[in-house]
Amino acid sequence: MRDRTTIDIPAGLEEEYYQINPEILHSFSKFRPPLNIYRFLEPVGRLAQYYKVGDRLTKEQTLELAELVSQGVIFVSRADHAVYVKHISYQLDLVLLDKHLTESEIADIFQIALTRRMEAFFDQPVRLVFDKVREDALVLTEYVWEDFHRTKALAKRLHGVHTLAAHAVNCALTGLHLFVSGQPATFREGRTARTGLDRLVLGLLLHDLGMTRVPALIRDKTKPLLPDEMQKIRGHTLSGYEMLARLDIKFPEMERCVAEHHERLDGSGYPQKLTVGGISETGLLAGVVDSFCAMITKRIHAEAMEPLVAAKKLLDDGRRYPADLVKRLIAGLAGK
Ligand SMILES: [Fe+2]
Ligand SMILES: [Fe+2]
Repeated sequence: MRDRTTIDIPAGLEEEYYQINPEILHSFSKFRPPLNIYRFLEPVGRLAQYYKVGDRLTKEQTLELAELVSQGVIFVSRADHAVYVKHISYQLDLVLLDKHLTESEIADIFQIALTRRMEAFFDQPVRLVFDKVREDALVLTEYVWEDFHRTKALAKRLHGVHTLAAHAVNCALTGLHLFVSGQPATFREGRTARTGLDRLVLGLLLHDLGMTRVPALIRDKTKPLLPDEMQKIRGHTLSGYEMLARLDIKFPEMERCVAEHHERLDGSGYPQKLTVGGISETGLLAGVVDSFCAMITKRIHAEAMEPLVAAKKLLDDGRRYPADLVKRLIAGLAGK
C-alpha cells in the first residue's frame, strides 16, 4: 500500500470535492453509499466517477473502496453537500474527524444535528433523550475548545423562523459565541472551564424546557394573552426548573439558565423579580441571548428584526439588560 502523503493531489481539488477518510466511509451504508463517489486517478491527475448513487457496490468493490480510502484517493463532490451534511449530522462526532470540511459547513452540520436533537427532546423530555442532547453538545464544545474563533461561524448559522427547538439552538450558538468572546486568554487553563462551558451550552439549549408544559394554543396565540394564559407562560421558568430536578440534572449553570433567563436588572423580570447583584452571570447572559434570539426570528406575532437593530434595542434598554454583555454582542455582530 502506498503512503497517502506520496500521492500528489492537485491544488484546488478540495474546492470542489471532499476527501473521504476511513471513519466517514465506515459510517456510510456499505453497499449503497448515499452519494456519488469519485476516485482520483493519479496518472492523469483527475477524478473519475467510482460509484453512482442508486447503484449497488459488490462485496469486492466495498473492499477495494476501503483500500482506496486509506490511500487518500476517494472523494465526494461538494455539490452533494446537502446529502453529506445530513449524513454527518446523524453521527456528529464525525465532524471532529473530518479535516476537509470548512468552518461554515461544520456550522451547518451542528445546526441541523442539534435542532433535530432538541425537537426530539422537546417532544419527549426524558433522561434518555437528554443524554443524546448532551452527547451532541459535548461534540460542539470539543470542537470549539480547539479554537474559540470557531464560534463566530456557528453564531452565523441561526434559524430565521421560530420554533421551540430552533430558538434553543439559536440561543446555544449565540450564547457560546458571546461567552467565549469575553474570556481572557487564561480561561482555558482553569480546571473547571471546560465543564462550565459544557453546562452553559446545555443550559442555553434547555432554558425554555418548561415551555413544553405550556399548551401550544397559548404559546402560539396571536391575540393578546388573557391573565391566566400569561400566568401559564410565566410559569415556564419554574416548571422548567422542576423538570430539571426530575431529570436528575443538578448542574448550577443549567439551573440558572432555566430559572433566571427572564430576570432583569431593574427587578421587572420574573419569577423572583431579582435585581442587579441577585442575578448570576450565567442568568444575565442567558437573558440577553434569549431576548436577542427571540427578536431576530420570525414569530407568529412578529417579524424578524435585523440582528444589529435587535441588539441596539437591548442596549437602549440598559435598565434591564447589562450593557457590557450587550456591547460585546454588538461588537461580535459588527465582526470586531
Ligand atoms: Fe423563556
Ligand atoms: Fe427563550
